[in-house]
Amino acid sequence: MQEWRAVKVLICFYSRYGSTAKLAEAVGEGARTFPGDTVWIRRVPDLEPDAVIRQDDRWRRTREDLIRRYPEPQPIEVAQADALVLGSPGYFGNMAGALKHWLETQFAQVWRGEDIGEKAGAAFCTTSTVHGGNELTIATMLTALMHLSCVIVPAGYLYPTLRRNEMPYGASAVTGPTDERPLTEADLIGARALGYRVAHVARWLLVGRSQEDFRRRFQQWAVTPAGSAGDPPAPPAAGPPRSDDAGSGSSRPPGG
Ligand SMILES: Cc1cc2nc3c(=O)[nH]c(=O)nc-3n(C[C@H](O)[C@H](O)[C@H](O)COP(=O)(O)O)c2cc1C
Repeated sequence: MQEWRAVKVLICFYSRYGSTAKLAEAVGEGARTFPGDTVWIRRVPDLEPDAVIRQDDRWRRTREDLIRRYPEPQPIEVAQADALVLGSPGYFGNMAGALKHWLETQFAQVWRGEDIGEKAGAAFCTTSTVHGGNELTIATMLTALMHLSCVIVPAGYLYPTLRRNEMPYGASAVTGPTDERPLTEADLIGARALGYRVAHVARWLLVGRSQEDFRRRFQQWAVTPAGSAGDPPAPPAAGPPRSDDAGSGSSRPPGG
């Protein structure tokens, strides 16, 4: 029987100038709702060589800061996570090459097409303009998560806070043409709500799996009246009797 345990949420993001990192932080805050839960916030590395990055002072400084604060995701974290959340700036309506590269190389090495456990999955992004492809960018990450058999957790409109964010697919923020517009409180609230939701669904999956496990094992110990183990009787194919059928003694199938 699997023991109760807290959930582990792995947030993997790429960020060049820091906006997506701030959104990742907010998703992480939302996911940290129960004591004992683990939230790993990890940045995937740049693809460009140092010489290129050094030519852009803002990129260089941000990168130094982000590397100090966010380690790279580790294979053990990928394997153990109950939820996988991907975050990226929108680059031409797609996730950044760095994140895609990490998925195709480091992640793929852990995955190798094998079962890595049924995880909850969600995505967030930042773009410079409202119509610059934030929905498409999230869709590219959700597509990857579907290939990894994740149970997709959209932002939806269920929580009032997520309704305010006006984006049902995930969390997002618009950072302006020069990428210097700070994230708004609504952006951060939406990201926290997504983090909360994905951790919540991860917990449901975990609890549901434990119940399945219990049921499977319990059957091995269970003693039926006949003295043998077995499945509980299947429900009648026609479903429960309707109240108007009760006591009628009719053997007619419903509608028959
Ligand atoms: C190569 C490149 C491509 C980009 N393509 C788009 C785009 O298609 N649409 C958009 O709105 N912003 C685009 N941007 C802007 C970034 O998505 C935006 O500035 C983002 O917030 C940066 O996130 P970061 O601060 O985490 O690096 C692009 C930026 C770069 C460097």
